[in-house]
Amino acid sequence: MAKTPPELLERSPAGMASNHQLQRTMSLSFFSPKLSIYILAACVTLFVIFHIQSLQTPPDSSSSWYSCSLDLMRHGRRISNTTTAATTSAEEVISSPSTCNYTNELNALRDKLRQSVTFLPLKDLRYAHAALVGHTWFMSSMYDAHDEEGEVQYQRFPSPSSSGRLLCLKGRDNHDGSWNSYALAWPDALPHNVTLMTSLSFISYNHYNYDNIWHGLSAVMPFVAWHMKNSCVNPERWVLYHWGEIRSRMGVWLASLMEATFGGPPYVEVFDGVEEGSAICFEKAVVMRHNEGGMSRDQRMEVYELMRCKARAYCNVSSEELDHRRRKIGMTLLMRTGPRSFKNESAVIGIFERECAKVDGCRLMVAYSNNLTFCDQVKVMSMTDILVSPHGAQLTNLFLMDRNSSVMEFFPKGWLKLAGVGQFVFHRMASWSGMRHHGAWRDPNGELCEYSEDDRRCMSLYKNAKIGYNETYFSEWSRNILDQVKTRKMEEASKDPALTSNGCIC
Ligand SMILES: *[C@@H]1O[C@H](CO)[C@@H](O)[C@H](O)[C@H]1NC(C)=O
Ligand SMILES: *[C@@H]1O[C@H](CO)[C@@H](O)[C@H](O)[C@H]1NC(C)=O
Ligand SMILES: *[C@@H]1O[C@H](CO)[C@@H](O)[C@H](O)[C@H]1NC(C)=O
Ligand SMILES: *[C@@H]1O[C@H](CO)[C@@H](O)[C@H](O)[C@H]1NC(C)=O
Ligand SMILES: *[C@@H]1O[C@H](CO)[C@@H](O)[C@H](O)[C@H]1NC(C)=O
Ligand SMILES: *[C@@H]1O[C@H](CO)[C@@H](O)[C@H](O)[C@H]1NC(C)=O
Ligand SMILES: *[C@@H]1O[C@H](CO)[C@@H](O)[C@H](O)[C@H]1NC(C)=O
Ligand SMILES: *[C@@H]1O[C@H](CO)[C@@H](O)[C@H](O)[C@H]1NC(C)=O
Repeated sequence: MAKTPPELLERSPAGMASNHQLQRTMSLSFFSPKLSIYILAACVTLFVIFHIQSLQTPPDSSSSWYSCSLDLMRHGRRISNTTTAATTSAEEVISSPSTCNYTNELNALRDKLRQSVTFLPLKDLRYAHAALVGHTWFMSSMYDAHDEEGEVQYQRFPSPSSSGRLLCLKGRDNHDGSWNSYALAWPDALPHNVTLMTSLSFISYNHYNYDNIWHGLSAVMPFVAWHMKNSCVNPERWVLYHWGEIRSRMGVWLASLMEATFGGPPYVEVFDGVEEGSAICFEKAVVMRHNEGGMSRDQRMEVYELMRCKARAYCNVSSEELDHRRRKIGMTLLMRTGPRSFKNESAVIGIFERECAKVDGCRLMVAYSNNLTFCDQVKVMSMTDILVSPHGAQLTNLFLMDRNSSVMEFFPKGWLKLAGVGQFVFHRMASWSGMRHHGAWRDPNGELCEYSEDDRRCMSLYKNAKIGYNETYFSEWSRNILDQVKTRKMEEASKDPALTSNGCIC
């Protein structure tokens, strides 16, 4: 009797199966599953008691550590394969003071777990040549989770996929990411001398930088998406990495947008209070390292929608202003200074001024992105239906316009052939944020390059060149778009204005 049940248990893969076998072996009418579990539990209990008594010498403080440890492991394996009921009763036996005192042992095991926490470099140089494709060199041993297809790719700690472990970092270096490191640790076996950072932390990896408004926005987009999906929960802090090196700030525009979106200025953690070489662990962490990659168009649209809504509320863009503009057409020339500015601004402004004047209700604004505050930009964009601007980071503001607004973009000579796919970012961004990109004008004229025109070496010459104009082309193009926008606005004005709600989702 004492021997049969354990054998059964070892052979059967699950509790239910062993119940069946048990019933068959006993060949009697134990049909109630509850009853079977009780019997099973009783058998296991008897077995365990028998086993302990027969194998162990009476508890003796000098030798018990070793035998108790063996015993714990052997039983532990068996117990984990039986039903819950059996586990409970067997645990009771094991923790009974009459047999072994496992406190020391558990502490020793916990200490081993603590010491086995292994830190790996944040930046894995094996992937340096392919930092942007597929996998990533940042926390390279980790895989991302998607909740659903078309959602952000992210990692959450603790989570079932981290087996309940927290993310820990030794990550203060701002010069070389391979000096920074990460590890996972169970909350009850954190490394020695660790600092625990409570509440939620957002940990961002960006291949570019947090000062450029386009690249910075790409890096924070998935956090906003995650925030929307998780009952609008706000982070306590941000930890920003670039190539595994810690960064202490976001650009002003990005920080303002995050302040607007999350209802408070972002706190960027740089671990100043933490001793050199000692680790910090995060109570809860969300890690993003693919920018907005993996997000569907719908999800991007929702994220832009929320940020637009929050930014307007934060900047006090009043609903009267918004209402007023429903009856106007706002055309904005968003100018750059220096690289990729127009060679002859007054000529360009003149062309758009003339075309705008021909359309009833059209209002032309000329703004310089370099000396506008964040809220100035939000206000200008909320008054804009047609954004006219050279290619450049200032175009990132386009998502702050009302949905279905128009974008006209301008490039210097040479970009189409030499600048790669990056030149189409605002085309894509317009589509992702629900705007209409009306193509680009590409200057056919420019500086002469000493190599052939499609030689990559010419790009250094073209990259920051200035942009000319073609009066005929600009006039026709803007007339055409003003026409389309006028028609659209008339259709929209005839709709019920109550349909446009002013509440933000979060
Ligand atoms: C139970 O035992 C079987 C066979 O020994 C093993 O394959 C399985 O992983 C065990 N299950 C658990 C939860 O330990
Ligand atoms: C087990 O050992 C620990 C440390 O030696 C002791 O503090 C604890 O009281 C003991 N527990 C029992 C139930 O004997
Ligand atoms: C923890 O920190 C203290 C004081 O800085 C130090 O004396 C001790 O050795 C550290 N312990 C470990 C395990 O590193
Ligand atoms: C918006 O209005 C509130 C209350 O009137 C004021 O406290 C806040 O400073 C204003 N914000 C901006 C950006 O002007
Ligand atoms: C800019 O264009 C205007 C109007 O076509 C012209 O009068 C002016 O001379 C131009 N300025 C420069 C610096 O070329
Ligand atoms: C903004 O910058 C432009 C170009 O540098 C300049 O012409 C304009 O006067 C500036 N505006 C303000 C308000 O500083
Ligand atoms: C944008 O345009 C599309 C297609 O014309 C229309 O279905 C949609 O309602 C418009 N969206 C807004 C917010 O006006
Ligand atoms: C200006 O644009 C018009 C209309 O697209 C085109 O016919 C003309 O050749 C262009 N002029 C120059 C100098 O490129």
